[in-house]
Amino acid sequence: MSQAPVMPQEAPPALAWPAARAAEVEEALSHYPNPRSAVLPVLWIAQREWGWLSPSALRLVAHTLDLPEPEVFGIATFYTMFNLEPVGRHHLQVCMTLSCSIMGADRLFKHLEHTLGIGHGETTKDGRFTLRRVECLAACGGGPCMQVNFDYHENLDEAKVDRLLETLR
Ligand code: FES
Repeated sequence: MSQAPVMPQEAPPALAWPAARAAEVEEALSHYPNPRSAVLPVLWIAQREWGWLSPSALRLVAHTLDLPEPEVFGIATFYTMFNLEPVGRHHLQVCMTLSCSIMGADRLFKHLEHTLGIGHGETTKDGRFTLRRVECLAACGGGPCMQVNFDYHENLDEAKVDRLLETLR
């Protein structure tokens, strides 16, 4: 009689939470009766720690919440605010949705591409800037609008963007 195949054990995560982040994870978990409900805040904690969600970070989140890795991967890929590749020190996200588009977002984005020498999803060679087109940032009254890391910049034009880039260099 043949034996049932033995499923391989899931490999342990290669990353571990630093102590400060482990405390944040514990705090996030304390808000929910079911650990799986904490998946978004825990993904945020991982992204704050490592700057992006590498496969190792996603595995750590899955392991922490006792969730299947593909489920955590699916959640991370659904939300555009999660970085699945390394990003530059300044992550420039330009809203391209209707209100901002009407107010000149396309022109602004082309200006950024030209000034920085990179396109959508690319990072400058010095690692300072990553440029992305994104959907509505919920600042429609201040278009065109760009998010730089966690800061919003509204009512932009080329001159304002140039001044902003100077302060970020
Ligand atoms: Fe740009 Fe909403 S359309 S923030």
